[in-house]
Amino acid sequence: MQRTLIKDLPRHIGEEVKVQGWLQTLRDQKSMQFLVLRDKTGLVQVAHWKKGNPELAETISKLGTESALTIVGKVVANEVVRLGGLEIQLEDLKVEGLAETPLPFDPFGEVLPDQDFRLDWRYLDLRRERNRLIFEVQTTLEAAMRAYWLGHDFIEMHSPKILGAASESGAELFSLKYFETTAYLAQSPQFYKQMAMAAGFERVFEIGPVFRADPSFTSRHMTEFTGVDMEISWIESHEDVMVFIENWLAYCYAAVQEKHGEQIKEQFGTELTVPSLPFPRLSMAEAYQILKDQNYALPPEQKGDLDPGAERALGKYIKDTYNHDFVFVTDWPFSVRPFYHMLHEDNPSLTKSFDLLGKGLEITTGAQREHRYEVLASQAQQKGLSLEPIQDYLNFFRYGCPPHGGFGLGLSRLLMIMMDLPNIREAVYLFRGPNRLRP
Ligand code: 4AD
Ligand code: MG
Repeated sequence: MQRTLIKDLPRHIGEEVKVQGWLQTLRDQKSMQFLVLRDKTGLVQVAHWKKGNPELAETISKLGTESALTIVGKVVANEVVRLGGLEIQLEDLKVEGLAETPLPFDPFGEVLPDQDFRLDWRYLDLRRERNRLIFEVQTTLEAAMRAYWLGHDFIEMHSPKILGAASESGAELFSLKYFETTAYLAQSPQFYKQMAMAAGFERVFEIGPVFRADPSFTSRHMTEFTGVDMEISWIESHEDVMVFIENWLAYCYAAVQEKHGEQIKEQFGTELTVPSLPFPRLSMAEAYQILKDQNYALPPEQKGDLDPGAERALGKYIKDTYNHDFVFVTDWPFSVRPFYHMLHEDNPSLTKSFDLLGKGLEITTGAQREHRYEVLASQAQQKGLSLEPIQDYLNFFRYGCPPHGGFGLGLSRLLMIMMDLPNIREAVYLFRGPNRLRP
């Protein structure tokens, strides 16, 4: 017999059906047993008359909630049943996966244990519709990202994650034993997407794992995350990259809104709106002036950079002033940017770079890259880097590399701002942080 989804049961009144799902609750009464079964489309009440099958009644009595069950029975209309005005009269039940009792915690209980405990039993926490929705949104989001790229002649790449040298700055680098030598985990696909520009691919994207040995405990940092990266050739400045992103993001928001907008509102109370174009832009100098006007005091060691409080203050300013959730902060000082960002011709202390903040959170860093070998090598030296470990990278620029730029975006951070999730641990399938390598 084919499985019927719970949402489709109203179309099967009077018929015998097979439903499959989890036992959400069990009411074991004197002559009747009432089970509430849950599949990913809804809940249904299943009624069992104990005398009809005493042996089965005994099996049911022992079932722990959250057991995985296959149930066969007849669908009957019953006005008094609050769940959709119908129930299934149980004929047969198979225990596919018994749930031990007690559960580590009841994912459908009134009070939930703290997040760290729930992460120990992540799969139970993910049984909640709210949590599954996050990953349905992620799926739609990634599909929309790809659809847009494919519509704009991009090539998908998969760059190596095991490297012989750092792929960004040398900080936050995980090393691992690699036979007789030491290897490193990629901190971004940065160098390799630039190699694709030297290879003449012109437009590339990659969605893949990124590793950062960042010991911080915050609501927005992970030691492993999914990076969304792209790079395009023949640009004139970082402005071309920003124009690409804002159009791409608006397209992705529209796709998510169309498919999940109502459910997001229902589960998270968030009204997902497609951002208007263009996104507001502020130079770093303007951003600093705004922060100053608001008496937001950045600590001196933050000079030229933004801290989380400053990001939030700017997010609020943009919301109040332009009623917009996004802002590009552009033209960051070279002192706080990586060596490969291109410098402004008329002001070499500033880079042709940007961060994109969404609801006051950095979701993207991007830039036009320096593609001229000599200039790039000299910028690396200005940063105090020795050229030898990055020579493979520098070689990419020796035999004709076009001007190019791109960005990296944290997938979970984008999900956080889309659904107003307070912590990145909710926006990732399994969190990895300094204190968490399990399950
Ligand atoms: O800002 P980041 O470090 O920039 C780069 O990796 C550059 N290669 C990008 C470029 O093309 N110039 O990382 C990009 C994004 C951040 O904006 C943030 O959204 C996310 O990746 N991110 C993290 N997400 C979770 N946990 C962390 N530890 C993250 N570090 C960065
Ligand atoms: Mg950044």
